Amino acid sequence: MAKGKTVSRETTPVLSAEGLTLGYGADPVVRDLDLTVSEGEFTVIVGPNGCGKSTLLKALGRVNRPVAGRVLLHGRDVRSQRPKAVARRLALLPQSPLAPEGITVRALVARGRFPHHTLLRQWVPEDEAAVAAALELAGLAGLADARVGSLSGGQRQRAWVAMVLAQDSGTLLLDEPTTYLDIAHQYDLLELFADLHRRGRTVVAVLHDLAQAARFATRMVMMDGGAVVADGAPEEVVTAERVARVFGLACDVVPDPRTGTPLVVPHERARTGA
Ligand SMILES: Nc1ncnc2c1ncn2[C@@H]1O[C@H](COP(=O)(O)OP(=O)(O)O)[C@@H](O)[C@H]1O
Ligand SMILES: [Mg+2]
Repeated sequence: MAKGKTVSRETTPVLSAEGLTLGYGADPVVRDLDLTVSEGEFTVIVGPNGCGKSTLLKALGRVNRPVAGRVLLHGRDVRSQRPKAVARRLALLPQSPLAPEGITVRALVARGRFPHHTLLRQWVPEDEAAVAAALELAGLAGLADARVGSLSGGQRQRAWVAMVLAQDSGTLLLDEPTTYLDIAHQYDLLELFADLHRRGRTVVAVLHDLAQAARFATRMVMMDGGAVVADGAPEEVVTAERVARVFGLACDVVPDPRTGTPLVVPHERARTGA
């Protein structure tokens, strides 16, 4: 976050991927990708299964080491910064996080405070307050002492979100944060991220629902085959032609009756037995 300086939001780069090539074996999954995320954006990344969204998010979050290229966080290569220093500025919610056996919701959320601790600065009242606030925001105050393993899929997902919120970093990287949530809880969570965004957080989320993405994003990035194929305002990115080409789904795109943002209405699939 800008500390009282009059920097113009929207133009200050927070994260930049430069010539990023990522992979797990011989064939790269993401090739020579450039992407800059500026302070104050709510960027939503969309694209078909397996196109490299999670791989990209993990590289932005310093989890994956690039095959080539680099990721700059506030102008410095993330790999040259200590994990804790990165985690104070950037929180990553992975797609399928695994909780330690038997851990309670409160203990999981408290782990979000770890980047703020040093040998000399251990648990302090500020940490307690951050954990309580995160539990409240995620709607889990009443379940703080429950075991994560005993929660429903949706509650568990919100416990992870609370952990990321407790981390209190300026930038949030969220990989399919609405997975397992019913539709009302999906919108609750997206509204919460939108609210954090309005208060100054930079948000990068991977979402599958294009209409939800278009409602909340200030910018959409569409990926296909490990590359960015469209990048801009939701109404520029979500077109019927592009949804057909990238997702193989024939559709109409109409304005959302409440927000005017693009809404994908799929055509019936021809079932010819082909
Ligand atoms: N840990 C891994 N080891 C090997 N291959 C992986 C691993 N994670 C992802 N992949 C492969 O990389 C490609 C992109 O995956 P991913 O980034 O998870 O896609 P997305 O999030 O867009 O669905 C897929 O072909 C997937 O099988
Ligand atoms: Mg993924």
